[in-house]
Amino acid sequence: MLYNMYMLLVANWKMNFTATEALRNLKKFSKLEPTDTEIVIAAPQIALAQMAEAAAAEDCKIQIAAQNFDFHPNGARTGEVGIEQIIGLVDYALIGHSERRVYYNEHDKACAQKVAAALSTKIRPILCVGETALERERKQAELVVRAQVAAGLAGVASNRLGEVIVAYEPVWAISGFGGSKLCDPQDAAKMFEIIRDEVKVMFGAANAKRVKLLYGGSVDSDNVAAYARATKAEGFLVGGASLHLYSFRDILDKIELLR
Ligand code: 13P
Repeated sequence: MLYNMYMLLVANWKMNFTATEALRNLKKFSKLEPTDTEIVIAAPQIALAQMAEAAAAEDCKIQIAAQNFDFHPNGARTGEVGIEQIIGLVDYALIGHSERRVYYNEHDKACAQKVAAALSTKIRPILCVGETALERERKQAELVVRAQVAAGLAGVASNRLGEVIVAYEPVWAISGFGGSKLCDPQDAAKMFEIIRDEVKVMFGAANAKRVKLLYGGSVDSDNVAAYARATKAEGFLVGGASLHLYSFRDILDKIELLR
């Protein structure tokens, strides 16, 4: 038995689906029957409220995450959705996803403010970290990821670490960036050690263990077991392969076989 604890399987639907399609897919996904896996769908913003309402229905085991939010509670922020507007709708929120860091200039300071804002509510932050291809090429991957972790978690009180999730997604391994490269599971494992070490430096060994780590970047049913074994990840953040029930279910099946 590799795991005796729960796994978190997060589907990041990114900017896909109309609201109608997203709701229809949620209905399909709600037929999944995980045993020891918590399934979360990071909903497209356009469908967030409706999906949250549908997921709250008694027979639905799926939790909903926001893909992003503004840490300001409300006010003059045209086009944004503020933390107060997602309270009660979502259980989790992605923070600092690389697509937001790369395309929308979202940096560590804003990530830290979002982590703090999420923790001030009952929303569990999923802080996303990862180096670009250039940073890896320049041998800066460790430096970059350590800095992202340190900055993102800087304001977290140690007694809240059990609610914090960090997702390591090497930017160059994310399918949406057009790369077709897979991160070697052993390289992913090395980065997991680095992240765990950074959290340990910040909060001490006992506290560090309470932070959950996910892996993401072209995860599918063919490679998920290798990543799980190498990294001992407590879950996965899945983009492309989460858009269809069949490919997502295959990942879930593989994860549950690891137990
Ligand atoms: P892919 O699984 O499509 O590479 O996306 C990963 C990701 O960015 C999940 O947040």
